[in-house]
Formats: sequence, C-alpha cells, structure tokens
Amino acid sequence: MPATVVVGTQWGDEGKGKFTDLVAKEMHLVVRYQGGHNAGHTIVVDGEHFALQLVPSGILYDHIVPVIGNGVVVDPRVLLAELDMLDRKGVDTSRLRISGNAHLILPYHQEIDKVTERRLGKNKIGTTKRGIGPAYADKASRVGLRVQDLLDPKIFREKLEVVLKEKNAILAKVYNQLPLDPAGIAEEYLDVCRPRLESMIGDTVGLVHDALDAGQHVLLEGAQATFLDLDHGTYPYVTSSNPVAGGACVGAGIGPRYIDRVIGIAKAYVTRVGAGPFPTELHDETGDLLVDRGGEFGTNTGRRRRTGWFDAVMLRHAVRLNSLSEVALTKLDVLDTLDTVKVCVAYELEGERYRHLPYHQSVMHHVTPVYEELPGWKRDLSSATERTHLPKPALAYIAFLEEQIGVPIRLVGVGPGREQFLHFAA
Ligand code: GDP
Ligand code: IMO
Ligand code: MG
Repeated sequence: MPATVVVGTQWGDEGKGKFTDLVAKEMHLVVRYQGGHNAGHTIVVDGEHFALQLVPSGILYDHIVPVIGNGVVVDPRVLLAELDMLDRKGVDTSRLRISGNAHLILPYHQEIDKVTERRLGKNKIGTTKRGIGPAYADKASRVGLRVQDLLDPKIFREKLEVVLKEKNAILAKVYNQLPLDPAGIAEEYLDVCRPRLESMIGDTVGLVHDALDAGQHVLLEGAQATFLDLDHGTYPYVTSSNPVAGGACVGAGIGPRYIDRVIGIAKAYVTRVGAGPFPTELHDETGDLLVDRGGEFGTNTGRRRRTGWFDAVMLRHAVRLNSLSEVALTKLDVLDTLDTVKVCVAYELEGERYRHLPYHQSVMHHVTPVYEELPGWKRDLSSATERTHLPKPALAYIAFLEEQIGVPIRLVGVGPGREQFLHFAA
C-alpha cells in the first residue's frame, strides 16, 4: 500500500508538525526519516501545545505506530525527556518504535558543534548546537555509535573508548576544552537510558514493510526542509541530512515506488533561522509584523526567525526536487492585516532574470527579487473552515501562488489549532 511524504519546502518551521498530525488521522504508521532534535514540530490541540523534537507527529493518535527511522540521529537523553513530557500530558508513548540503525548523538557531538560554531565566528552557520552535524559526520566516517549498540554494553564501551580518544584529543588540543569521561557517558547511556528504551528498539524496516504488505498507510515525516538539505540546500548554511522526499526512502528503508503522494508544506511567507542567503528577507516593519503575528521564534531554541515574502522561485525548485503532488499552505492568517501582499516571481542579477533557482551559490547571495504585489484582504481568517469563507483577495492570493508554482494547494492553514485549516479540493 502507498506511502505519503510530508516535506518542508522552505527553510523549516513551515508547520510540518501541524499538518503531519492532520494527515496522520488517515494513516497507520508515522515515520520520522531524518534529522534529530534540531527539529521542533508543534501541534496545538484544544489550546494545548505539544512541541516535538524526536517523536513523530502522529503520536497523539491511539491508532498510530510512531517510528523513529534509521535516518534519524537520536540523543536518548532528549528522547526520554520528550517521552516524560508526553506522559505528563497523558499521551500514551508505549507504541513508539526506534530503529536500531539510527545513530546516537553523544555528548562530544554537542561539544564539537558548539566549539566549531564559536571558531567560525562571523562565518558561523547558526546551528542549533545540538550535535547534529558532528553526529552525521561520524556516521559518514563510520565511527558512529548506533542505537542498537545500547543493547550490547560491551560493544558500546569498546566503540566509545576508541572514538572518545580522538574526540578528546580534538577537544583538548584544538579547542582547549576539558576531556569527556567515557565512564560517565557509558553510565548515562547504558544505565539510565537503555533500560527505558530497550523495548522500543528494533527493526523498523521490517515493521514498515509488514505494514505496507498488510495494506496499511505509512506517513513519512520530514524534519527541516528542502533548502536546508545537505545536497540541495544553500550549502554550507544547511543541516547535515537529506530532508528532501528522496531522503524518506533512505531514512525509512523503502523504495521510491511506494510513495504516491508528496505533500510540500509551505508558509504563506518565508522564515529562516540561522545564517545563509534569503533573497526575499524583510528588514522593515513588515518583517517585524510577520515575526509578531506569526510568533516567529524557534520552537525549542527560542531564536527569532528571519522573515520575508513568499518566494515562488524557491517553491518551483522544491516542486522539482521533491516531486510534490500538492502543497499545504500554512499561516495564511498571519497576513490578515496587510494592505498588500508581495510574491517573488523571479530573481534578477546583472540584467539576467532567473525564474528557476540559480545553480551557483554566489548568484543566490546577490540576487534581487522581482515582486508581484497583490491586494490584501484585511479580514480575520482564523475561523474560516471552508473555501467559501475566504474573501476574494485571499482566494486570489492562493490562486496566484498555485499558478506560480505549478502544483495544487490542497490544504490551507489559518491558525495553529488542529481544526484551523481548510480543504481546498480542485
Ligand atoms: P514545523 O517545524 O514545520 O513543524 O513548524 P514549527 O512548529 O516549528 O513552527 C510552526 C508554528 O506555526 C507553530 O507555532 C505552529 O503552531 C504554528 N502554525 C502552524 N500552522 C499555522 C497556521 O496555519 N496559522 C498560524 N497562525 N500558525 C500556524
Ligand atoms: P524543523 O524540523 C528551522 C537550521 C539551523 C541552522 C541549520 C543547521 O523544526 O523545521 P543544525 O543544528 O541542523 O546543524 O543547523 O539548520 N535548522 C532549522 N531551521 N527549522 C528546523 O527544523 C531546523 N533544523 C535545523 O537553524 O541554520
Ligand atoms: Mg520547527
């Protein structure tokens, strides 16, 4: 049976959590396929906020099996804190399954992330300092520890001993930091984390395929977004995994033929956290208004997000990279008070016009956006539940975006609440 991917189309925080939760209602499994606790996915149910980092956004339904796939990097201490938070809110977390092949984030990854950013100074990436990049680097260098190593303390200790020698040398000699103690790490991971996670760890590839073979629907939840993708994003201002839809195959262990629906989540404007090019960025009061009305502060890090107008050039590229079958447009309500709304339809640099994303990063850093300006609607959309509730200028804005990006907008978000959306059938 088919699989559906939910993927961010901009620089993250588009509302993937909310829309994964929405779509999960019709699914059986929800699999997170990459990233780690750099993600912050928010779901709001009856006014209660759930900010998820590692746990898939299907967890709130009793019928869903939430799965942390092999492509994710897991800090077990953070995962346990998240499970505790969910338990306190009365959510049953016992169905969670964690791939034994997922890599572990260890304390030295976080240390190295922090000191590397410090060393980069003004060239820093603005990472979440969660150890994501160093953990994926170790995976690629084949010195990573995996979740399954928690189940074999002897192997865990042996691997840790070897890798920590090198990490401590780097921390001490390059960064002048105190070395980390292997016994302390082993105690925390093996004695504290392992007993609580043990029963959840297993072969998630088998689980996903058993579900598909049984005719069940699988939802693959991306973290971060297309333009933070290690290969396709605005390198080096990216994360260290592959959020694009293709990454879902690798990070969950399925072939591309299972995927028949790819939902791209796009904010009705654009935000970015951390450094890197942002052609439509606003440095004026409209930018501040988007921050205020959109609550544009990091879900977990609290950092203020940069804001700008909707960028159709980016979206056209996201359509290509992910084979988007449809778009879910989020946070339309944030634009409610504006007199006019701008959409970037192309870039310009030195007399040349770009309808598609320029391949060379230096061009991307210097382009000027070409805007179309549309009338605003000046109406509160937050209680709209049907297409017919939307004023004409809001419908015109959506139609214009659809025409620009070339795929249908099927869902529209008008507020953070689970019920604050409209279906936008063709
Ligand atoms: P994610 O990382 O893509 O899951 O997005 P985040 O949860 O980091 O950020 C999205 C924020 O917007 C969260 O605070 C959501 O509750 C909120 N949100 C999601 N959809 C909508 C919407 O349609 N309107 C408004 N006003 N807020 C929304
Ligand atoms: P969700 O899933 C927004 C950004 C960081 C930084 C860059 C690299 O909630 O959309 P990293 O810690 O991954 O090495 O940082 O990526 N970043 C995100 N920005 N939303 C996220 O996740 C992000 N995860 C990482 O700000 O610029
Ligand atoms: Mg987020």
